[in-house]
Amino acid sequence: DVTRDFLRALPKCEHHMHLEGALTPAVLFKLAKENNISLPSDDPAFASEATLKQRYEQFNSLDDFLQYYYIGMTVLITASDFEALAWDYFEHAAADGLVHAEVFFDPQAHLSRNVSYETILQGFNAARTRAQREFGISSELICCFLRHLPVPECEATFKLEEVQASYKRGDVIAIGLDSSENNFPPELFKSIYADAKSLGLRRTAHAGEEGPAKYVEDALDLLEVERIDHGIRLAEDPKLLERVAKQGTLLTICPISNVLLQCLSGVAEVPIRKFLDAGVRFSINSDDPAYFGNNYILDNYVAVQEAFSLSRHEWRTVCENSIRGSWCSETRKEEML
Ligand code: ADE
Ligand code: ZN
Repeated sequence: DVTRDFLRALPKCEHHMHLEGALTPAVLFKLAKENNISLPSDDPAFASEATLKQRYEQFNSLDDFLQYYYIGMTVLITASDFEALAWDYFEHAAADGLVHAEVFFDPQAHLSRNVSYETILQGFNAARTRAQREFGISSELICCFLRHLPVPECEATFKLEEVQASYKRGDVIAIGLDSSENNFPPELFKSIYADAKSLGLRRTAHAGEEGPAKYVEDALDLLEVERIDHGIRLAEDPKLLERVAKQGTLLTICPISNVLLQCLSGVAEVPIRKFLDAGVRFSINSDDPAYFGNNYILDNYVAVQEAFSLSRHEWRTVCENSIRGSWCSETRKEEML
């Protein structure tokens, strides 16, 4: 039988986790106080940690969540704030038996508040180095662009000298695309993705979370992404599903996120069985654990097990596909397998 302990012991990789999504209400209020950041006084949700947690239980869409996500991150100012945020995540990840993490961050949401790119990276890198040393967790950073912002702003951020330098150093190995999905189609970002490809960067994009399967297809064709973040609505297009299976494109699935943002009515509605039967590869991820009931990667594995009763063999396949779909060295993959 498949227990929580069995799932904890599996060599798990996480590919879909926004570091800003590790900001718990407790840390949010603590940093707001320390950094003198005022939170919205006209929203009763910000009255206390308890009211904020309650509000987080009532998200009714991606955009409803994003509003809180962007307010929350305004408390992040110093490198040590970013370090503490990432360290909080790595501690949970270690307790859950994670071996490798490829995590997102949203530089535009910080640069717009005059927090420098170096400050963000300095904090995240300090936590990553410590996670490698103390927990043996390897990690990579994926720089995400916010699709609700004007495209020229996204392009300008991609081209910033300090951002380009982080690609060259290898501190950032990939780009992603996140935030509001509907009405912000992949085609808008063709130029950034073409440039990223020519720089040798890995490429992924959120697609088919709230948006249609067509966005998954366009992300593959127009952005030439190598992974798809979420992609659950791919289940609506059998031909595209078959193509994704054939190509071996990894979907980074976030079951608890999909339910709490009301993209799906329950974990049982995540097309896990369909993907397994069709040979579509996927990994299971936490997305924004501090906003989604404090559910980290192992909670997502357990939720999938409760809904689908996978066999030990199927779980080993999920983890093997996650390792093979990672963007670490082949040597590191062999170590994890
Ligand atoms: N930013 C943080 N989490 C996200 C999600 N699930 N979808 C789109 N943008 C996000
Ligand atoms: Zn996400």
